[in-house]
Amino acid sequence: MIHELGKTNSIFNQFLSEVRDEKIQQDRMRFRRNMERMGEIFAYEISKIMPFREKEVITPLGTAHMQVLAQQPLLATILRAGIPLHQGLLNFFDQADNAFISAYRKYDADEDFVIKLEYVSSPSPKNRILVISDPMLATGGSLVAALKGLIEKGKPAEIHVVSVLASLEGIEFLKKSFSKYKMTIWTGAVDDELTAKAYIVPGLGDAGDLAYGNKEDEK
Ligand code: PRP
Ligand code: URA
Repeated sequence: MIHELGKTNSIFNQFLSEVRDEKIQQDRMRFRRNMERMGEIFAYEISKIMPFREKEVITPLGTAHMQVLAQQPLLATILRAGIPLHQGLLNFFDQADNAFISAYRKYDADEDFVIKLEYVSSPSPKNRILVISDPMLATGGSLVAALKGLIEKGKPAEIHVVSVLASLEGIEFLKKSFSKYKMTIWTGAVDDELTAKAYIVPGLGDAGDLAYGNKEDEK
């Protein structure tokens, strides 16, 4: 199941347009804040299909019968670029447990790369609603490696993948890799091309660099 939020016009498309815009995205603080704001909107959308329970709430004037979240999800993200998007999700799922995974593209002299998974810091995802965020789903290598690392610690009840931009290739790789899992993909837009260096086109560029600056070992 894929939810493409950008297909319905809302303020989300304003934020998505700003992170894509080569001029506006130069303002790092605005870039991070727009990622965070989209994370909040993704959280709102995901919450609509989460389990709720009834709760009696005592107000100053009486009792209100309310529906509240039955459980908080486990929120996972991939360093570095995932941090602002993750923070947006955490702003709304404010009592969630958190997981952080280090995965990055390690380039060699021929500009080929492998995904380096360095650590997975997470409680057990066993039977939990796992929400993993990474702004860019390009080849899918990072998300697949990160999810495999998490699943080694326990099998989640369901997986929600949140990516601001996704490629068709990345979506297919994810679906193929986790066909035995209940997985929902939440994205802003699906762009259909990847460059020779596996960047999404039109995409937005390098999300990690735009949020935090260039890395030492980058080409
Ligand atoms: C970016 C992005 C994803 C990955 C997507 O991270 O944040 O994790 O690339 O590409 P993929 O789908 O082909 O794996 P990057 O490796 O640039 O690291 P960074 O967040 O530290 O900049
Ligand atoms: N990582 C990014 O930050 N951008 C892309 O387009 C692909 C991978």
